[in-house]
Amino acid sequence: MINYNNLLKQIEQNVKNINGGNLASYIPELNNVDPNLFAMAIVTAEGELYQTGHTDALFTIQSTSKPFTYAYVLDQLGEKHVHSKVGVEPSGEAFNSIIELEKKTHRPFNPMINSGAIAIANMIQDSESVGRTQVMIDLFSQLAGRDLTFDQQVFLSEKNTAHRNRAIAHLLRHFEVIGDDIEESLDLYFKQCSITTNISDLAFMAATLANNGIQPKTKKQIYQSNNIAKTLSLIFTCGMYDTAGTWAYSVGIPAKSGVSGAIFGVIPAKFGIACYSPLIDDHGHSVKGVQAIKELSLKLNLNLFTNNLR
Ligand code: DON
Repeated sequence: MINYNNLLKQIEQNVKNINGGNLASYIPELNNVDPNLFAMAIVTAEGELYQTGHTDALFTIQSTSKPFTYAYVLDQLGEKHVHSKVGVEPSGEAFNSIIELEKKTHRPFNPMINSGAIAIANMIQDSESVGRTQVMIDLFSQLAGRDLTFDQQVFLSEKNTAHRNRAIAHLLRHFEVIGDDIEESLDLYFKQCSITTNISDLAFMAATLANNGIQPKTKKQIYQSNNIAKTLSLIFTCGMYDTAGTWAYSVGIPAKSGVSGAIFGVIPAKFGIACYSPLIDDHGHSVKGVQAIKELSLKLNLNLFTNNLR
């Protein structure tokens, strides 16, 4: 029987002295974060939690949120509608690239890059009882299994400096991927990125994808099971942006990063795993997080193509 707590502690020690990376200072508020934070968690598909490090540290989920709103709109609006606006191909470009939108298909390559995620946020609709912002917050709260909120400071910090995302949103409007609600869509996307979690919240979200759309703690069916494989395939091919190929080759599990230093991985039917450490590389991935998840994957033989767990 593997002692997961010990394994996580060991990995924490092993990555402790890895240097390099920077805070995501293009969102000024993220420059105030303690760069030495580190936390890691595993949640099994049955809902057991193992964790290590700064498990109380709160962080904004940033781009790790993107697959969760994607799966939500897929459930709500169906594949035909969603993918008439956003593609399913890796872009090979940085997460905030605008160039392929302008030059190639005139729609975002996939839902994991900023252009695609802004288009996906735009698809979230009011429910009968609450507005779309609350619909989005309720979704993440259900995924975590507790009430979450978004960080107002980080939200405003991004909103007030988001010239590039604003340019992307206007281009999306120009190509009729989104409508006239440009600022509202951006606000919703920035609030989504500013949802505040701890490491176990993120691991529970990942475990919901591992558990066929059922949150392992609350047992609530959050996503239709037939949309989970689609979501995981896009996380696998596009979640790590312009290093998705390297990641697939060397780690072999679907994973998604965020510029706060959050990163999660999914082992279908087995685990949701999450790591947080705020210093990121040039691709927007946590430097320690990448190494920690890679080490966990090697130690537990998680690579989906090794077939050892099945
Ligand atoms: O749109 C942005 O730039 C951020 N709110 C999220 C980007 C992000 O997390 C990229 N991932 N590594």
